[in-house]
Amino acid sequence: MFRPETYAERRKELKKILGGGLLLIPGNDDVAFNYPANTYKFRQDSSFLYYFGLDAPGLFGIIDVDNDKDILFGNDREVEDVVWMGPEPPLSERALKCGVNETHPFAEVEKYISSAKSKNQIVHYLPQYRAEKIIQLSDLLGVRHNTIAGGVSQDFVKAVIIQRSLKTEEELSEIERALDISYVMNTTAMKLIQPGLIEREIYGIVEGITLSYGAGVSFPVIFSVRGETLHNHHHENALKEGDIAVLDSGAESALHYASDITRTIPVSGKFSPLQRDVYNTVLRSQTEAIEMMKPGIKYKEIHLRAAKIITEGLIDLGLMKGNPDDAVAAGAHALFFPHGLGHLMGLDVHDLEGLGETLAGYDAETQRSDQFGLAYLRYGKKLETGLVLTAEPGIYFIPQLIRNWEVEKKNEEFINFGKAEAMIGFGGIRIEDDVVITENGHRVLGRPIPKTVEEIEEVCNS
Ligand code: GLY
Ligand code: MN
Ligand code: MN
Repeated sequence: MFRPETYAERRKELKKILGGGLLLIPGNDDVAFNYPANTYKFRQDSSFLYYFGLDAPGLFGIIDVDNDKDILFGNDREVEDVVWMGPEPPLSERALKCGVNETHPFAEVEKYISSAKSKNQIVHYLPQYRAEKIIQLSDLLGVRHNTIAGGVSQDFVKAVIIQRSLKTEEELSEIERALDISYVMNTTAMKLIQPGLIEREIYGIVEGITLSYGAGVSFPVIFSVRGETLHNHHHENALKEGDIAVLDSGAESALHYASDITRTIPVSGKFSPLQRDVYNTVLRSQTEAIEMMKPGIKYKEIHLRAAKIITEGLIDLGLMKGNPDDAVAAGAHALFFPHGLGHLMGLDVHDLEGLGETLAGYDAETQRSDQFGLAYLRYGKKLETGLVLTAEPGIYFIPQLIRNWEVEKKNEEFINFGKAEAMIGFGGIRIEDDVVITENGHRVLGRPIPKTVEEIEEVCNS
């Protein structure tokens, strides 16, 4: 954990922003996997981690802004629990680690909330993403479960977004710890990759590295020669000479800060001339996008610049045609680059997405587009010092999308459909790094992970 003062200061700032009310911050609980005592790996809620830091199930935090009190509710282990799970310091002691001096048994949460409500205190809570927590809040507040989503406090959400989106030096250090693990994950995959293996043989080792160095993965590992499927979680393909595999993976540091890195790796250790050309187009768009990252510029503008570089590269390869600015304005590039340039990253790999992606990534000045491709850009507004974002352009040849557009004649003035058809089977290429916005520009976080064609081929053949 960070120092107790870090958590106390975060809660103090939250109280200052909100000015009043009772803030409910439920921690996560163990969730049954296939029977009650066999549970999924525990993952604490990220906002609970941010304000209270304690990485254990069965806890509930209340910040009583009106009475300037921070309280943790939870039960100490009984001897029967100790027999199976081992001893654990009492909550009163654990709470000191996050600067909280007042603790109560879990059963007292309900009383505290009822008493606050009877004094007309306003109760605030955040969006919930687990059924168990929706039921818990519905019981505690005495309202039907299907009214919980409608009762989310927008003021609370906005305050948490303000605080969690801007990273401090100690948070950046945690992200860089996760990136140290990413370095090992990616270079190990490059060294191991060879024809004859099944994807899962590398996938399993990459995921195992996250467990041996830290708290596990920040999202399920994507490792596939069918990289044109953006989030491909199938790992049964054989790796063949001439294939390229997309490895999109991330680790969590001990304190659950994420990394998120993509590299595209040639199975035989060498890119073909065509793979190299497509790769270098993606790399050029990523490099220029990162170069543009600084306070004050809209991320949407950088996304569109990356899209233009991709369009120019595809025109050079004969896959697109026409004026690149017009093609990007029409969204024609999205046939090959159908996702956003990047997203916020922090305690969640898609940071703050659970609180409302559009609230976190857009504002009155920058509205979310509904155009195919651009609509998936998760963060569009102006960049600020302290934000951490990914930069992850890609080029993909998605058979069904190519065929659909061809039948619909969609953007036919910008696409050479015959050439696009001929690329079916090529797969996809994505390159992703994690970047912090600094006062004067940006810094790519972590130890550089081999990225140019030459660097990757060198590690593959080492
Ligand atoms: N979690 C996949 C990505 O955003 O890169
Ligand atoms: Mn990724
Ligand atoms: Mn990402």
